[in-house]
Amino acid sequence: MQTLKSLFLRHIGQTSPEPMMLEVQRAEGCWLYGPAGERWLDLISGVSVSNAGHSNPHIVDAVRKQASDYMHLMVYGELIQGPQVEYAALLTSLLPDPLKVVYFVNSGSEAVEGAIKLARRYTGRSGIISFRNGYHGSTMGALSIQGSEVYKSAFRPLMPDVMLLDFNSTDQLSLITELTAAVVIEPVQGEGGVRLPSEGYLEKLRERCNKTGALLVFDEIQTGFGRIGSLFATTKYGVVPDIILLAKALGGGMPLGAFISSGAVMSTLTNNPALGHITTFGGHPVSCAAGMASLNYLLDKNLAESATARGERIKASLDHPMIREIRGEGLFFAVELTDSSLVPRFIRKSPGNGILVDYFLFCDSAFRIAPPLIITDKEIDYACESIHKTLDSL
Ligand SMILES: Cc1ncc(COP(=O)(O)O)c(C=O)c1O
Repeated sequence: MQTLKSLFLRHIGQTSPEPMMLEVQRAEGCWLYGPAGERWLDLISGVSVSNAGHSNPHIVDAVRKQASDYMHLMVYGELIQGPQVEYAALLTSLLPDPLKVVYFVNSGSEAVEGAIKLARRYTGRSGIISFRNGYHGSTMGALSIQGSEVYKSAFRPLMPDVMLLDFNSTDQLSLITELTAAVVIEPVQGEGGVRLPSEGYLEKLRERCNKTGALLVFDEIQTGFGRIGSLFATTKYGVVPDIILLAKALGGGMPLGAFISSGAVMSTLTNNPALGHITTFGGHPVSCAAGMASLNYLLDKNLAESATARGERIKASLDHPMIREIRGEGLFFAVELTDSSLVPRFIRKSPGNGILVDYFLFCDSAFRIAPPLIITDKEIDYACESIHKTLDSL
């Protein structure tokens, strides 16, 4: 008999030899439900997407309403579409000057591509600087600035003129020069295993970019929308980039990305040549309606601010001899185990104890905790008990 599992393996392009392969029938709040009555507490949020929870009724209503008004009408940028315009106005009201013009795209990777093109176009320079263990996506430009050789070497030649620096190394900031178009950084590195910026580092980076005329690009695709205990890292750390990149939770569970800059920088994509970046589905009206409903929900419920207290409860409750360190802030943690070989065993066994946790791309000694920001104290206690139980069973 053909099961969904056998069809999945035959017809869905596989990203790895060992997919999780849990069949999900529905999801609600912080929980995913399987066909045989199983349920798993989601400690991943679809990789920092479902910050307002799964099937949030406010988001579902917004999607229904927009889908019945209209879906795709025309390529991005030609028609005045309410959901795009209203969402851009709300987003920019929450961001500091000069981040006031939004270019909507489909994904995080496309936002990165857009930012690279925009920085090259605005500065007339070609050099891009990024950071070891930084992740910016999987398309060719985003891959080219990725901070690990593991996923890059099989696809060379990649985009030229890319240099990697060590995250938090102030000594290396002198490598940013008048040839640098952009410095692309995750203010808090996600896939590197939740690495926080050292005191004053982002300020020094800002100063060096000011001095050389390089554009500073914050990739807040994973840190945005409350994940680290404030709406954005730029507001948390008080350092304003020239371009901010958003995706993941930006769409409230629908596909959406954006690069946001000043009017002066953004306008360089408009002329010579016109249509400097084109996207058919960028800023899809249903995605924008969903994203706006999600952001309004986060704001109404103060979920960015309350993420810190919820995160503290997780940190305080996790205490096990196999845990070496819990690193992170808000509701974004890397839990370092005493031995890297424990991590895959732990992750594979976790669903059996009713929780979903995940790897990091560039940190094999830790597992990820990044639940929806609506997680309750009771759910946190359940999660911590399950983590302890799973560790005990290794
Ligand atoms: C920091 C960061 N930038 C960019 C991306 C790429 O986003 P997408 O998978 O939507 O292309 C990711 C995805 O994990 C990310 O974490």
